[in-house]
Amino acid sequence: MYICVCMAVTEHQIRQAAQAGAHSLRDLRRDLGVTSECGSCATYAKKCLDEARDAKRKAAKAGRLAT
Ligand code: FES
Repeated sequence: MYICVCMAVTEHQIRQAAQAGAHSLRDLRRDLGVTSECGSCATYAKKCLDEARDAKRKAAKAGRLAT
């Protein structure tokens, strides 16, 4: 699903950016161009980034507990 229509950025790309270390909307803007045009994607892009970062943290924590 497209999150940023102006820059044709998908939810999948935002999740990949989070996995690669994106921490903020500023990171998404730098890496993908999110919010660089109309800005109407900011709220949902941030929500998507936060969810992806939470999932990454939970996976890392589960990995630590399994070892
Ligand atoms: S929808 Fe992302 S900048 Fe317009």
